[in-house]
Amino acid sequence: MKKLMAANWKMYKTADEARETARALVDKVGSLPQDREVLIFPPFTALHGTVEAVKGAAGFNVGGQDVYPADEGAFTGEISPAMLAACGCNWVLTGHSERRHVLGESNTFVGQKTAYSLAKGLKVCLCIGEKLEEREAGKLTAIIHTQLETGLKDVPADISPEVIAIAYEPVWAIGTGKVAGPKEILEAHAIVREKLVAMFPATGAQMPILYGGSVKPDNASEIVSLDNVNGVLVGGASLQADSFSRIVLA
Ligand code: G3P
Repeated sequence: MKKLMAANWKMYKTADEARETARALVDKVGSLPQDREVLIFPPFTALHGTVEAVKGAAGFNVGGQDVYPADEGAFTGEISPAMLAACGCNWVLTGHSERRHVLGESNTFVGQKTAYSLAKGLKVCLCIGEKLEEREAGKLTAIIHTQLETGLKDVPADISPEVIAIAYEPVWAIGTGKVAGPKEILEAHAIVREKLVAMFPATGAQMPILYGGSVKPDNASEIVSLDNVNGVLVGGASLQADSFSRIVLA
């Protein structure tokens, strides 16, 4: 199973800077190791430039940070799977914790976005993760189960593991510098893996599970070596080509 090394360029400054960073990343990584894929999720305004920058670079993919589950109809301001594909995207993030807890997106809506995007040919990285108070209340398993059951509710039982990934991002580790420890990552990823196998007996064991939350060059190698960790989803440390290239090659 390839390791998916993903960058979430939240609120990136300008399209030109995103294009320049993507180009520098391709140059610094050089030829990607066979067991790695790079996914870059820039803001919508930087999609074209980022796609242009990685064109021809084997193993480099671009995706949207969000999507609206409809290709027809009037939904002012929204971006559909077809629009993302037309920009050269083949991936999309759904259910990022900021969309859930800052922007109020429901589990149900995340599930609709996930199923619709897959049906329209995009590969989907479904983000899940608990808040600190949920962890402290002993609700880790319940939260992971609920977010997977609702997020993957209408995904076909025989879905290919090549088109779906889960990013486990404990909310308390995002942007805080407080990266989850190996024990916490192993425990959570084992819960995710067990649930995926229960929901998708034929393919759940092969679905990539990424870890996200304060991944840095100095902790990436240990994280990606852990059982059931099939990649990372990186925010802050992915905004510079030098640091993210070190994570990609960790
Ligand atoms: O989606 C990845 C992001 O939420 C993690 O952010 O800055 O903790 O790597 P960061």
